[in-house]
Amino acid sequence: MDTIEREILSNRLRSWILQAGKLIRDKINDPLTVSTKSNPKDLVTEMDKEVEFFFATKIKEFYPNHLLLGEEGYGHAEINKTDTIWIIDPIDGTMNFVNQKQDFAVSIGIYHQGIGEIGYIYDVMNNTLFGAIRGNGAYKNSVRLPSLKNDSISLNESIVAFSHRWLMKNRFVNEKTMQQLVVDVRGVRSYGSAALGFARVAEGAIDAYITMRLEPWDMAAGRIIVNEVDGLTTDIRGKEIGLLERSSVISGHPEIHDRIVKKYLRKAVKRSAR
Ligand code: IPD
Ligand code: CA
Ligand code: CA
Repeated sequence: MDTIEREILSNRLRSWILQAGKLIRDKINDPLTVSTKSNPKDLVTEMDKEVEFFFATKIKEFYPNHLLLGEEGYGHAEINKTDTIWIIDPIDGTMNFVNQKQDFAVSIGIYHQGIGEIGYIYDVMNNTLFGAIRGNGAYKNSVRLPSLKNDSISLNESIVAFSHRWLMKNRFVNEKTMQQLVVDVRGVRSYGSAALGFARVAEGAIDAYITMRLEPWDMAAGRIIVNEVDGLTTDIRGKEIGLLERSSVISGHPEIHDRIVKKYLRKAVKRSAR
């Protein structure tokens, strides 16, 4: 994909994601149809489907050769990693969307031949757009985000985000080690949107985001954006994550990522964790 092609694609995606956000904001107070998916806490609404359908229609019209992998099933059945793929989470943080009407995002990553080219995360209610084109840096609205490497940081000054679930007995990590991490860092946050977790890592608001199980659409955009500010994203053992894999994730400032993986996660990880 050449530079001009990427620029046009990025401009189109930016304009569509802003349109999708407006569509959501315009209907934010309308009654919602909420259903559950894999478990009672796994929610989906008509709006999740409407937003994904909006992108599926645009992609079909403007890029009929591109593939779509979307959470809500409007994508292609067969995904070939060598093609250009749009990986879409129409609403990331659906529980926040339903209960709080804030702190959710539209998250889209475009990959070409397995390489992350363009990523956008739109914090809809705050009208804040995080975006990156490979090799061109990452932006929060029109402001370029500085490299995380510019600031050296120690663990006891850092803020990490993860769910309280990993502090309870669970099948992925030893809860005692995670409790020690809470003691050793300055603060812990939990946002309820993976995409916003990545965005906050990219802007340096938090120093790491850790989670035990994400789908490709939860992380597709975030990985590209964090990479553009020299952050690291791997599974909790420190290994690279395949584009189409479900995986545990730690994304963060390079020093903090390294320290948490070596000192805590590698010790804490259970065999059942991927
Ligand atoms: C979820 C959110 C949540 C994360 C879950 C995701 P959804 O996505 O990102 O923060 O912990 O693993 O599934 O279902 O709201 O798109
Ligand atoms: Ca999601
Ligand atoms: Ca979603």
